[in-house]
Amino acid sequence: MNPDTPLQLLGGLTPREFLRDYWQKKPLLVRQAIPGFESPITPDELAGLSLEEEVESRLVIEHGARPWELRRGPFDEDTFRHLPERDWTLLVQAVDQFVPEVAELFESFKFLPKWRIDDVMISYAAPGGGVGPHYDNYDVFLLQGYGRRRWQIGQMCSSASPLLDHPDLKILAEFDTTDEWVLEPGDMLYLPPLLAHCGTAEDDCMTYSVGFRAPSAAEVLTHFTDFLGQFLPEEERYSDPDVQPASDPNQIQRDALERLKALLDRHMGDERLLMTWFGQFMTEPRYPELVTGIDIGEEELLDTLEGGAVIIRNPSARLAWSEVGEDLVLFASGQSRVLSAGLRELLKLICSADALHIDNLGQWLADDEGRTLIWELVKQGSLGFANE
Ligand code: SIN
Ligand code: CO
Repeated sequence: MNPDTPLQLLGGLTPREFLRDYWQKKPLLVRQAIPGFESPITPDELAGLSLEEEVESRLVIEHGARPWELRRGPFDEDTFRHLPERDWTLLVQAVDQFVPEVAELFESFKFLPKWRIDDVMISYAAPGGGVGPHYDNYDVFLLQGYGRRRWQIGQMCSSASPLLDHPDLKILAEFDTTDEWVLEPGDMLYLPPLLAHCGTAEDDCMTYSVGFRAPSAAEVLTHFTDFLGQFLPEEERYSDPDVQPASDPNQIQRDALERLKALLDRHMGDERLLMTWFGQFMTEPRYPELVTGIDIGEEELLDTLEGGAVIIRNPSARLAWSEVGEDLVLFASGQSRVLSAGLRELLKLICSADALHIDNLGQWLADDEGRTLIWELVKQGSLGFANE
């Protein structure tokens, strides 16, 4: 993708301009970001998904059992028969994992790292429906899929912003509208993190949220230090061979702090371990139970591929690759594998190709390291046979 080619998706901005001026900074409304966009799934199909055990869904009913009643799926058909005429929303998470045509939307966002993308959530709202004014901690592209929705944007918020007293939902107690638009199918609104927003269905409508993810500083520190701890021997401890005679034995001297800082710097600055941890963390699947492999021998896999079988990425898997020193590392659904530099093109192929088969894998199947990698990914479940 050329970062200097203007994109319709970004209202004629180039990816470079969008990232410089809007990404994580300010909202952008794009009329007809995807001209003539037609939702690949209907409201009925979305409701159908929310009946499934493995699908994460919520209903928000503004005038329900309590104001802004939240119900969690899976639902049953009866639920939908008894909903009010208006003012409710159904939200279904990670539809990209269940509907391949929805996952195709990611193609349009290739100017951003894939590992930053969380999922495509789709909401269906009856007229007047919405989830109330709120802010999110993540960037989001809100693509109107069907019907019309009014979006209002407001102030920048923080965890100190006052909220309504609600056990489940973080609805802002104050909302200062600064702008508003009615979005039609194909229109898109980009919102940076922390910006207050409120979407209200004008008529029954569907909105696609391409959501991003970023670990909190607290997550980075707690998870990385846990990971690091596994590699540190018991005998490596705070040590002070240079300690001076104590003037007051009850005082913790400044030099103790210096020794601690040196200990932290020694390990926190280990780039190899930091990259390994980060790649594993960022590729952890949202639903690990949907990343299950198959028991197959390496020879059997090879025979099957030679017989014309096609392998695809599991839509619930996450993959990324990186350079670590002289080596390459493939991160697949929370695991990492160090690989030799010669496998670069194979890693790119595995992470990006629509399908893997004898034609594009050919040479790699003759390479011991390459063949074993594909086999391990099939056994782990990040890759799977297309017709399964
Ligand atoms: C919605 O689609 O109703 C909610 C999306 C959002 O505001 O994040
Ligand atoms: Co939101």
